[in-house]
Amino acid sequence: MNGFEYKGHELFVEDVPVRKIVSSVDSPVYIYSEKALREAYSSYQEAFQGHRTLIAYAMKANGNLQILSMLGKMGSGADVVSGGELFRARRAGIPSDRIVFAGVGKTDGEMREAIDAGILMFNVESSMELDRLSRVASSMGKVAPVALRVNPDVDPKTHPYISTGMKKSKFGIPVDQALEEYRRAARLPGIRIVGIHQHIGSQLTEISPFRDAFDRMVAFARLLKENGIEVSWLDVGGGLGIRYGNEKPPTPREVAHEILSRLEGLNVGIILEPGRSIVGNAGILVTEVQYLKETSVKMFYIADAGMNDLIRPSLYGAFHDLWPVVKKTGAGKKGDLVGPVCETGDFLVQDRELPPAEPGDLLAVMSAGAYGFAMASNYNARPRPAEVLVSGDRFSVIRARETYEDLIRGEGIV
Ligand code: LLP
Repeated sequence: MNGFEYKGHELFVEDVPVRKIVSSVDSPVYIYSEKALREAYSSYQEAFQGHRTLIAYAMKANGNLQILSMLGKMGSGADVVSGGELFRARRAGIPSDRIVFAGVGKTDGEMREAIDAGILMFNVESSMELDRLSRVASSMGKVAPVALRVNPDVDPKTHPYISTGMKKSKFGIPVDQALEEYRRAARLPGIRIVGIHQHIGSQLTEISPFRDAFDRMVAFARLLKENGIEVSWLDVGGGLGIRYGNEKPPTPREVAHEILSRLEGLNVGIILEPGRSIVGNAGILVTEVQYLKETSVKMFYIADAGMNDLIRPSLYGAFHDLWPVVKKTGAGKKGDLVGPVCETGDFLVQDRELPPAEPGDLLAVMSAGAYGFAMASNYNARPRPAEVLVSGDRFSVIRARETYEDLIRGEGIV
């Protein structure tokens, strides 16, 4: 992973030893590499250079203000899915005309906030939502810019919980109803059609589902054109996978080729919504081993981070590599790295060879930059970890560790 390397036996993030960060901010802690983030973002910019393109970073993957602000300064927009994300994106300085708003359950209030802000477009996911958006916009004397999210019915060949573009999923408008919906949208007073949206799933590691989805999208754009409806943006969503173990996902360049080679005769800009592929491999979660426990069937390393800090292994059975912060000699043990949370599903690593470690040793859960902190909770009244950004030989706390007082903010005894 770029930005994370051993120098001798010691794990560094860029030029800073992980141990130095932990001795200053304690553990568990999320650590990100600025260089890795910038490189990941740039690889998209380079891949689409020469074509009118907006990279609308899917901030659900990691919505830290500093990360958003950094990406914003590099030209990024944001794909938001709630009023809260819209607030965060704007607070981080992302211009509204680079913001797209998706999600199946937008409320009146969220619609109003986004219309007020002047976002680039709403990605509308149902017929009822379209009517409501028209009504809300009209009541404000405005017209809302819209793409309909078309569900192309393509199997992305990823985990079922993160497959979104198949008939049976709740997302988007089925492709066979989409033309009719666009015709309706064209007649609604509060709606201005500007694009087509799709997003078929996350952690895609093969090119073929992208190909199928782009084929269908472009065919649909042509059909719209024949029906007198012109769009200026194709929003192709996100979903490009990263390497957690031995996956070999396509590169942004390969994805760009598949898209750009299909646009003949269409005068459209491209919107991309990458999340994981920008931040996933740019972050780690560092945890300290507290205890070892060996039963007759299994070895457990008990750490100070658990499912509330990183839920991906528990929720999706996701694989994250595990690196020792200081490499030790001696044999590792096969077993589980578990957290302190009161659930059997609380593990970060399951049934794998663990590096040799003692209480007090630090371990790095790799590729934890996306959907790591973003999905962390306070379950078991556990304050969420600190987040640190490393830039060369400097590091900064970009989110302070939560305190016990943070845990009870807003509560009262009546
Ligand atoms: N656009 C839309 C409309 C989305 O729903 C998503 C992700 C993205 C873009 C960004 O996808 P990405 O480039 O990050 O794959 N929590 C899960 C992933 C959920 C993805 C949800 N939608 C995980 O930890 O694997």
